[in-house]
Amino acid sequence: MSESISITDNRTGKTFEVPIKDGGISSEQWQKYLPGIWFYDPGLTTTAMTESAITYLDGDAGVLRYRGYPIEQLAESSTYLEVAYLLIKGELPNKDQYSAWVDDITHHTFIHENVRKRFIEGFHYDAHPMGMLVSAVAALSTFYSDAKDIFDPASREKQIVRLIAKMPTLAAAAHRFSMGMPFVYPDNELTFPANFLSMMWKVAEPHYKANPALVRAVDVLFILHADHEQNCSTTAMRTVGSALADPYSSAAAACAALYGPRHGGANEAVVRMLTDIGSIDNVQGFITSVKEGKTRLQGFGHRVYKNYDPRAKIIKAAADDVFAVTGRNPLLDIALKLEEVALNDEYFVSRRLYPNVDFYSGLIYQAMGFPVDMFPVLFAIPRISGWLAHWLELLNHEGKIVRPRQLYVGPEERKYLSMDQR
Ligand code: SDX
Repeated sequence: MSESISITDNRTGKTFEVPIKDGGISSEQWQKYLPGIWFYDPGLTTTAMTESAITYLDGDAGVLRYRGYPIEQLAESSTYLEVAYLLIKGELPNKDQYSAWVDDITHHTFIHENVRKRFIEGFHYDAHPMGMLVSAVAALSTFYSDAKDIFDPASREKQIVRLIAKMPTLAAAAHRFSMGMPFVYPDNELTFPANFLSMMWKVAEPHYKANPALVRAVDVLFILHADHEQNCSTTAMRTVGSALADPYSSAAAACAALYGPRHGGANEAVVRMLTDIGSIDNVQGFITSVKEGKTRLQGFGHRVYKNYDPRAKIIKAAADDVFAVTGRNPLLDIALKLEEVALNDEYFVSRRLYPNVDFYSGLIYQAMGFPVDMFPVLFAIPRISGWLAHWLELLNHEGKIVRPRQLYVGPEERKYLSMDQR
């Protein structure tokens, strides 16, 4: 038995063989034998748009690995900046590499004063912070004239460091603006997660010291959200990047995709859903409305995971550490009841719908005091590392511009009619 498939074109009776390589068949072979016949695959549910060595998912087994390292081990023993290095460079850093990386990131956390004063503070008072982030990331491309030198390795490295370093600063600036609080400058004495919490919550104290348990929880959440293979926002990054746009413009497109409630907006939707349910007594009624198609169980289901999202398991465990400091989030009881009912209900079992990364993350963020509309922003901060790793991989592969085909089902040619003839 050869690793291949045979296809017969019944219009000509010809049969041809296409090899199976790394779990896929190449479209080039297909086009050689069947020119002009396209795969129809809305949502790209069964299409591999690239080869990638960054993240591995096994949806049936609930496995997630970054560059071969299981997510459980990274969440247990690593830091977000170390994981960002791993995703971008492909290997874990040694001590010198790590300290140089951390030093580089730490010294690029500042944003140009005009980004804050003229851009962020130019938004309407009630602007959604994710809308502000999408715009601010795009605006960064106008502050760095070397951003377009995407084939210069030194320039690429500089933009990558800038974006990883500045995402928390932009995120915190958007939050502080929407709360009418003064902007807080980065504190280079603090670690990456601790500095983010300082920029978010510092008021009058000379130095803001976050609770170490909350700092660690933020670092673990950043690790869990850093990458996830060819998800919607990463596909946006690769698509825009394939046109050779600068990394800031490509990342802004990815941010915009992540803003959607089906993707990064889901943890915001989960907390709103739990709040609307309001009590454990209403859970069964809500589940019934989901099964009747009236609404969706936010935070459940996944295109790839047909098993428990491994990240959800880790987040559920991290919740205990956070609640020990902040007090238990009362919505947790509703979430646990929803999970219990859904995992024992044929509707969800038959569709292989399990909690995903978003089902519990929002509860932790809310308990830590983050406003609900900051949740997609908290997702974007670490996901920038994954987007940039894929962007680099795309450029190093010298991939073609992303330009899919279509099956045209519109009207045949017809003659233009003047207004009085219509
Ligand atoms: C993320 O891709 C990634 O990796 C994303 C992500 C990442 O790290 O980047 O993991 C992060 O985005 C997680 C997903 C967050 N979104 C949500 O939690 C929103 C709620 N979930 C969905 O809307 C849905 O499950 C998706 C969008 C996540 C996946 O959609 P699919 O794979 O296109 O599945 P589908 O819509 O085709 O659903 C299959 C069936 C359908 O029923 P039938 O039409 O067959 O009867 O399952 C049903 C759907 O109606 N279904 C749900 C459901 N999700 C799917 N029914 C109720 N509640 C849900 N949440």
